[in-house]
Formats: sequence, C-alpha cells, structure tokens
Amino acid sequence: MALWGGRFEAGVAQVTQEFGASLPVDKHLYRQDIAGSKAHAKMLAAQGIISQADAESICSGLDGIGADIDAGKFTFDINDEDIHMSIESELTRRIGEAGKRLHTGRSRNDQVATDTRLGCKALAKELMEANLHLRQVLIAAAQKYSDVILPGYTHLQHAQPVLFSHHLLAYAWMFTRDFQRLVAAFDAADASPLGAAALAGTTYPLDRQMTAAELGFSRVIPNSLDAVSDRDFLLDLHYAGSVMAMHLSRLSEEIVLWSTSEFGFITLSDSYSTGSSIMPQKKNPDFAELIRGKSGRVYGNLAQLLVTMKGLPLAYNKDLQEDKEGALDTAHTLMQCLSVMAGMIETWTVNEDAMRRECSVGHLAATDVADYLAKRGLPFREAHAVVGHLVLTCEKRGCNLEDLPFEVFQEASPLFERDITEALDIPSIVAARTTEGGTAPAAVAEQLSSAQEQLSLD
Ligand code: ARG
Repeated sequence: MALWGGRFEAGVAQVTQEFGASLPVDKHLYRQDIAGSKAHAKMLAAQGIISQADAESICSGLDGIGADIDAGKFTFDINDEDIHMSIESELTRRIGEAGKRLHTGRSRNDQVATDTRLGCKALAKELMEANLHLRQVLIAAAQKYSDVILPGYTHLQHAQPVLFSHHLLAYAWMFTRDFQRLVAAFDAADASPLGAAALAGTTYPLDRQMTAAELGFSRVIPNSLDAVSDRDFLLDLHYAGSVMAMHLSRLSEEIVLWSTSEFGFITLSDSYSTGSSIMPQKKNPDFAELIRGKSGRVYGNLAQLLVTMKGLPLAYNKDLQEDKEGALDTAHTLMQCLSVMAGMIETWTVNEDAMRRECSVGHLAATDVADYLAKRGLPFREAHAVVGHLVLTCEKRGCNLEDLPFEVFQEASPLFERDITEALDIPSIVAARTTEGGTAPAAVAEQLSSAQEQLSLD
C-alpha cells in the first residue's frame, strides 16, 4: 500500500500507478533527497519534536541507503511512486519505527521543491564549470592565432578585415554573459522551501533557518504557498541554458561554414568529424551540426516548462511533477555540447592561407579608402560615392580594389596620393582600428586580457 493509502479502500490501477510515478526521473535526485531528509531529521531533534536517538538512526539509515544507491545495489520499485517515498519506505524497512517519524511536519510538496532546488544549484554549478572550460579554450585559441586575419562579414558578404582572435573573443564574451545568467539561476534556486509543509506551514515548531543553513541555502522562502509552487528558478536555468545553446549553435554554424571547401578556413580533426557510408571522400562536421541541432531541444524544454506553469492555481498541483525531466535533459545536453565544442576547437587546424586568400577579394579596403578621402576634406558621403564607383570599375575589370593602378585612383579624385597603398593594405587596415573594442592588435590584446581577467574572477 502507498504511504498515503490510509483513506483508500482500493489501490490505484497499475496503469495509473505507472502514469503517476515520477521515480524514473526523480531517482536522479536521491542525493538531494537524502540530504534534505537528514537536515529535516536533525532539526526535528534539535527542536525536541523527535528524539535525538531517532534522528541519529534516521541519519545513519539514510546514509546506508545513499551508499547502496551509489553502489548500484538499490532496487527501485515503481510502486513507490517517487524518490521521496522510495527512500522513506526503505528507511522504515531498515530502521523501523523511527523511520515513520521522519515525515513529521513535512510534505512531499516542500520536500520535492527542496530536492529540485538543490538539484538545480548542482546543475548550474556543473554548467558553470563547463562554461569556464570552453571560455578558456576560446581564449587560448585567440592567443594562439593573434596575428591571423580573416574577412569580417555582414550579411555573410565580405565587409572589413578582422583579427581571427577578435572573432573568437566575440564568442568568449557571449559565454561570459551566459555564465552570469547561470549565476542568476543558481541564485534564484538558492532559497529554502523546507518547512512550508504541504502549503500553509505547520503546527510544529520547525526551525526553517536551521534546515536552510544545513543544506547550504542562503535564505528561506518567505511564503509557504510560493515555496511549494514556485519553479521560476528552473525557468531561469532553462533560459540561461537556451541562450547558451543559441551561442553554441551560432558558433557551430560558423564552424560548419568554415570547414566547407568554399571557405576552407578551418579543418576539423578526424576525431571531431565523421564520414559518409556511401561517399568515400566525405568528411562531415557532424558534431557542430548536432550542437546546432540540440539548441532546438533545449529551447523546447524552456517552452515546455513555461506552458506547464501557465494557469496553475496555487499551490502544489501534480502538473509540477513535469518540471524535472526537461531541466535534467537541458543540463545533460549542454554539458555534452560544451565539452564537444571545446574539444573541436582545441583540435582544429586553422588555415591562415585560406583566410588570407579571402581577404584579397571582396574589396575589404573600401571603407578605408573612403575614410582616406574624408580625412583629406571630402565629405564622407561624396567619398563613399567615389569609392563605390571605383568598386564598380573593379567589378567590370574583374579585379579587386587593391589591384587598380594608381592612375585610376587619381582620375577618381585628385585627393588620392601615393600613400593610398596604406589604406589598401589589409594588415594596416586592421591595425588602424584602434577604438576600444576594435580589431587592432593592441585593442584586441587589451580585450584578451580583460576576458582573461573575467575568466579568473568567475
Ligand atoms: N513526485 C512529486 C513531484 O515530483 C512529488 C510531490 C508530490 N506531491 C503530491 N502531493 N502529490 O512533484
């Protein structure tokens, strides 16, 4: 009979037993469940609600169960419905009477909220670690390729040349912001619902501050109804995860593009590529594609929880049981994506020649040539038109701006002098963008050190 079976004459149908059970998912929270129960038992004893001896036997019984689950020696029974009742029933089997006192002044509603918050904090921490590792890899690559230049794009058309380091650091900053969002999700989860009981608090003199401190929560949730029904912290984790998945997906897309023969900017290592079962020549960037694909799954989990929460009246409703699977899936998915992405970058080959080749087409110097005229007094709009015309000439001749003879420049404007070659030189163009946050090597070096500093602070 279920632990709640007293007022029932018949048991639930097997089909509803299985339908209603959350054990296959929440068994992953057994460590949190045991920690929560131990904290609760110690507090009950400290408050004189149960005896010290009972609390000790509860705690050692729970430790034994935890060790057995760790060792894979625990057989879960779906008829126990969830992790809370699995552990509590087993505890009573092992220690008898005292086990039956554990649930005094507690409900599964505050218990599951406690477990889920502890689990959410652990997942956020793991994701933070993996996020730091990827950032470290990006920063190392930015350091390694500090003098490599590639075309920067807008609309995926050649725009202006940039340092490859600058491009990589753009991603490092995205992941830096993701870290902050994970911190926010951790912080949202970091409040204790324990002691809210079913919904209204309890008549026992519980010390909520004590259990909160014992479990490492920084504070107690001030409203018992909110405590048992709030899942915002999971939404925060989903959102942080979704934005990070989006960043991973954008980077993946660039990797897919860069590894085409059309771009050829990078070559993925064999260990991060796959072949084709029919086309012997193929080397596919499958894992970058898969990371890109996983973003859909992660967004789906965010949408699922938002929809599940919408319209729930206070306080606990069984719908809330649908909260954990998506969060675990999102965290697991992202852990894999972050580590595969880091490995892919650590092992790729960067083809500087291909990047250089692409810098010599697409008139990457056009803006600088217009700036050259503007700095010599021509209004920028007019300078833009002059250079636009030169580009048109190039297109007709089938050459690039840098290849035009000096006379053509002079015909276009008498302001052009021999030193125009500098405005046409790709490394000089990059070096001239010295604005804070710009792509000049000195500015990128500063940016790199602040990215490193932020990494060491996080
Ligand atoms: N398995 C449940 C969940 O995950 C635990 C709380 C159940 N509470 C209840 N009153 N049915 O949400």
